[in-house]
Amino acid sequence: MSIQTIRPARTLQGSVTLPGDKSISHRYAMLAGLAEGTTVLSNFSTGADPHSSLACMEALGAIVVEKDKTIEITGVAGAFRQPEHPLDCGNSGSTMRMLAGLIAPHPHTFTLIGDHSLTIRPMERIRKPLSKMGAEIHLTGGDGAVGGHAPMTIVGGPLTAIDFDTPIPSAQVKTAVLFAGLQANGTTSLSESVRTRDHSEHALKAFGATLNREGDKLSIPGGQKLKAIEATVPGDLSSAAFFLCAALLFPDSNLILDSLGMNPTRAALLDVITALGGRIKVLNVEEHHGELIGTIQVNTTPGGLKGIAISGALSAQLIDELPVIAAIAPYTREGITIRDAKELRVKESDRIALVAKNLKAMGAKFTEHEDGLTIPGNQQLHGAQIDSGSDHRIAMAFSIAALRAVGDTEIHGAEAAAISFPEFFTYLDSLCQR
Ligand code: S3P
Repeated sequence: MSIQTIRPARTLQGSVTLPGDKSISHRYAMLAGLAEGTTVLSNFSTGADPHSSLACMEALGAIVVEKDKTIEITGVAGAFRQPEHPLDCGNSGSTMRMLAGLIAPHPHTFTLIGDHSLTIRPMERIRKPLSKMGAEIHLTGGDGAVGGHAPMTIVGGPLTAIDFDTPIPSAQVKTAVLFAGLQANGTTSLSESVRTRDHSEHALKAFGATLNREGDKLSIPGGQKLKAIEATVPGDLSSAAFFLCAALLFPDSNLILDSLGMNPTRAALLDVITALGGRIKVLNVEEHHGELIGTIQVNTTPGGLKGIAISGALSAQLIDELPVIAAIAPYTREGITIRDAKELRVKESDRIALVAKNLKAMGAKFTEHEDGLTIPGNQQLHGAQIDSGSDHRIAMAFSIAALRAVGDTEIHGAEAAAISFPEFFTYLDSLCQR
């Protein structure tokens, strides 16, 4: 386990281009693996998670050639092969859940495995809709109330379309159903309780699939074939979130983020930054394959950070950014409250518990709730020993809190950052002035 020391900073200045978005990289990798032809992807995520998806595609018969950040994937033209070994999803919930939907219509037996963290995450949420479509899925453990987890075995075969209402706001569950629906008999339709990230909808269309949205209802006809694409993956806004929050901590920060993914279903953080008192200038925006890509400049306003209450649909839309928002909360004037975020307890770690543990180590006062945290403002934190819990977003979130602390902070298990953002500490160092 590696330890990274973070020294306090004076300001944040500079311009960076983020590695490709993790969510979009997963989807492009999977759809390219199924499609006919060779897909060429530039600025593919450098994170370990999307590489787990690529490795699974190779195990299923796709050919993957990687040159720097460009990946060429020659797909199986609609017919995955029987893998010789279990499909290893590593730490990636996205890989396991979305892949389950993608492979369930194929006439083979698949076993999906992952690391310790992934092995205790809930999988009943995808077993239910996919079983309704006719897939035979066996999970490990679970007693009905809690539900089972990996290792998961899928006995694949022809699926039938369903009409499904997603009970949990989850883009991964939505995607599993859409990927299965794409290959099922009949038209699958799906309604979401909260509109989650829509990268799968854009990616499916980019690869040539037909998909319709009417109000809250999505529908996808089955029996469709995909065609390879050329695409550039936009910079990852959830990785940018760490630097955006860091910029807010200093009165004269100036941060420019180039080629950044600005899909509106991911961009709630930009509203939060503005509500807290940051100033965001959008310097340009373009669209590629339905995804918005832009350049933004972030400055701070005099008077320091205000506060914010985050709840309801906003919590679901900000789910990956909540750890870093919580980590800067003590430095705001009015504090930050996060509620309706129970899903944080079943991410790569129990993120509410780990944020609480690490805030406490840094000397912060707060109240922990089953579904969030109330963190008062006007607090000065001190350097501390941080436990990442092997969770990438916890390692990075507390590296940001450390920038305004008194004294140095040591992040234990800092290597976890590589799950989504291996270059994080190098980028942080280049932006911080001390
Ligand atoms: C993701 C969806 C979110 C998010 C995860 C990536 C995706 O999970 O937390 O990091 O790419 O669809 P849920 O869909 O389970 O909320």
